[in-house]
Formats: sequence, structure tokens, C-alpha cells
Amino acid sequence: MELTNSYKRIVFVFIGGIMLFVLCGCQSTNYPVDFEQLSEEERIVIRFSHVVGEETPKGLAARKFAQLVKERSGGYVEVQVFPNGFLYKDGEEMEALSNGDVQMIAPATSKVTSLIPEWSVIDLPFAFNSIEEVHDYLAGPVGQELVSKFDSQGLLMLGMWDNGFKQLSNRDYLIRYPEDLQQLKMRIMPSDIIDKQFSIAGAVPMKIDFNVVFQHLENGDIDGQENTLSNITSKNLHLLQNYLTVSNHGYLGYTLLMNKQFWDELPEDVQVLITDTLVEVNEWEWETARKLNDEKLMELEDCHCIDIYHLTSEERQVWEEAFQPVYNYYIKRFGAKYVKSLPKFQENSTYE
Ligand code: LMR
Repeated sequence: MELTNSYKRIVFVFIGGIMLFVLCGCQSTNYPVDFEQLSEEERIVIRFSHVVGEETPKGLAARKFAQLVKERSGGYVEVQVFPNGFLYKDGEEMEALSNGDVQMIAPATSKVTSLIPEWSVIDLPFAFNSIEEVHDYLAGPVGQELVSKFDSQGLLMLGMWDNGFKQLSNRDYLIRYPEDLQQLKMRIMPSDIIDKQFSIAGAVPMKIDFNVVFQHLENGDIDGQENTLSNITSKNLHLLQNYLTVSNHGYLGYTLLMNKQFWDELPEDVQVLITDTLVEVNEWEWETARKLNDEKLMELEDCHCIDIYHLTSEERQVWEEAFQPVYNYYIKRFGAKYVKSLPKFQENSTYE
């Protein structure tokens, strides 16, 4: 598979950073040959918890990572994947990672904002025009500043996994303009910036765990929601919604995080195994995410089970103008630095 420049850059930046940790001195081991005889205590077990289904970009990549690490270490290193919030739910997994109850998680960047609020720059509506722009932003100096903020939290960011762009859905009517959101109870992820975005449009944003969105839609506690197509379909949310607006108004991706103390205590060859495997898995995940969201759009078009509308570029312009106060709000809280570096504010931007 041909590597894009953006991919090469981001891999270089992440892996370069991680290798610094690898080289700073940790015990070394050779994988025991007869691993089948080892108990769980004798193997290296990495518990990886996440909140989505297995057939999503994150779910599939977590499984692939586990499988490759097992194969390549002859079973000595075992990544145990716990999907669907089975072990820890939204709002619990970050603490579980910090406490060392799990060793790896991959929360959406929006959920990281409770710990590092500056990350909410990624949530700014219409901040990015393509996934490549997100990757470039994070590989650049300001993005790397965001990445390094995990250090002081005792966490190590091992990479960035994509899901895709969020779309809007609603039960009763089509959302075409910001004013269509008036009074709508919309499920959002826990991010102050997303909250602001919906409040400004007159909606009632409701922070609800991903795993219970279906029930809340079913009970009529909420009217609509925003998410990527693979997340929407993985939980059958579209079956409870009649209108889908392909708005691509915000990016949803994941910070792949490991407990730093656990990482530091890993033998050097295991660290190398993990970083090498992730080079491959991260690229695979990006491609899978893109494919899955395209496929899900086709499936939704074919099922005729939801009315699908694509925002025109004129309509998109109206949304962008309406959301300008959200940018002002972010700048007031965190300064202009993170916003000014967004690709849409660069001179050679292709942003419409
Ligand atoms: C959500 O809560 O909608 C997403 O963060 C779920 C996920 O992890 O993709």
C-alpha cells in the first residue's frame, strides 16, 4: 500500500516520539518459546477497553492489533480486547487507564477534553475539510503540543485512529439549516465545544453515553444525534431516526492511549513489537475507517429506511457562519494558537 506524505509524517512523529521512550532504558527479554505453558501471570497481558462494537473501525483495529501482537510474540504478549463498554463505559475508561485497571484505551478526542480541554479544538465545527487535514494538523507543531500534554497525565499516546466525519440525524424532520436544530434534544459526546455548538443553534445538547443512545432514542428522551455513519449503523440508530443530513460538520477520531507507567515497565523488545505493529495497524485502521463509512452510506441509500440529504456548499457556508461564535468561545478560553493553525486558516488552504 502506498504511504501518503501525511501518513509518513504522522507515523514518523508518533513512532519517533515513542522510540525515545524505548531507548531510555528498560529491561529486555526474549519471548519464552513454550508460551502455551505460561499462566496469565507469566505472560504480558494488555487489557484494551473500548465502547464501540467490534464491526467498527476502532473495534476491527483493536482486534487486528491483538491478533498480530499474539502471532508475533508467539502468544507471550496478549492484548485482551473488551468492546462495547463491557468493562468500562464512557466516563469510566479514562480513570480506569490512569489507575492501571486497563492498560490501553482509544477514546474519541472529544472525550479526552475532560482531561485536556485544549483537545476540543478538534471538535470545532467545520474545522477540517478532510481526514488528511486532521492528520497534518496533529503532526504539526501545535498538534504535537496537544499530543505531549498526555505526558503530564501519566499517559502515552501511541497513535491516532480515525472514524470519520459526523452527520446529523433527527426523528421528525430534515435538518438543513442551523435554525432547524431549535429546541431539538440532541445527543452529544462530553465536550464543552460540542455543547456550545448545539446551544448556539438553539438545540438542547444532552451528554449521553454511546452505549445507551439507542435506548434514549427509543424512549423519546432525545430527538436526534450526531455521529459517523459506521457508529450510527453499528448501533442501529438509523432505525429510530427518519432523517439523515450528510453534513460532515465535525471529525471523530481516537487517541490511542497507554498507561505510561505500564509502558515504562515493559521489556524493550515488547515495546518495539508494539510500536512496529502499530505502524501497520494504524495505516490499516485509517483505510478501514474510510472504506467502512463509504460502505455504510451506500447501505443506507440502498435500504431506503432513512431520508438522506447532502448539504450543499451554500448551506454549509450558512452553518459555518452560524458557528463562528463557537470559535470565539474556544479562543477566549485557550487563546488563538490552536485555532490559527487549523488548515482552514492557512494561506494555501483548499477550504471552500
Ligand atoms: C461516541 O460516543 O459517539 C463515540 O465516541 C463512540 C466511539 O468511540 O466511536
